[in-house]
Amino acid sequence: MNQQRLRLAFVGRLRAKHIGVLGVVVLTACLQYPVTALAQQPAAPAAPAAKGTLPVHSELPAADGKDTVMKVCSKCHSPNLILANPRNRQGWEETITKMSGLGAMATDDEFTTILEYLAKNIVPPINVNKAPTTILMSDLALTDKEADAVVAYRTKNGDFKSLDDLKKVPDVDAKKLDDKKDHIVF
Ligand code: HEC
Repeated sequence: MNQQRLRLAFVGRLRAKHIGVLGVVVLTACLQYPVTALAQQPAAPAAPAAKGTLPVHSELPAADGKDTVMKVCSKCHSPNLILANPRNRQGWEETITKMSGLGAMATDDEFTTILEYLAKNIVPPINVNKAPTTILMSDLALTDKEADAVVAYRTKNGDFKSLDDLKKVPDVDAKKLDDKKDHIVF
């Protein structure tokens, strides 16, 4: 924590020096948003309103921690930039570290709250019929054994069609699947 403070102080000085450059970068990042957002929308499902259709958010989804994200993360840029860049927990950890390096200020508790919110709500869609074991592990938090079981099951039985289908895989923790159900696609 002290280290973080020290680093922040250091970056603060850096930032003061390069504030002009940063401003341009933020502006550029914001200008790029509409394009990035469009590019990252999940493909429209073939069948209308099927299960597994991802909600398309125009603002951060309401959930615990949203207020903290809004407070801390919308100081320099629109939260749309967050929405447009879904990533897994590790990705969000790295992003938060990067943002704190750029000058984002929050207590440790607030950063933890933000990480929990983002890792739960702003994650990329996971296609459980195509994702390799590495993605199943990183994005669904499955163990290597569970990920292997999912791949073995779909290889033998064909594509999963629903969450219930996916839950038929033996020895996979159903709670993990429920946790991520809004982000699983088939
Ligand atoms: C002190 C200003 C500042 C604050 C506060 C801030 N950011 Fe940023 N953010 C930036 C700048 C500058 C960029 C563009 C630079 C870049 O992309 O490297 C950026 C870009 C981003 C991007 C897109 C680029 C990438 O790395 O994917 C994401 C996502 C992001 N911020 C998330 C967050 C989150 C989450 C928070 C809250 C913890 C936050 N930001 C708070 C300055 C800030």
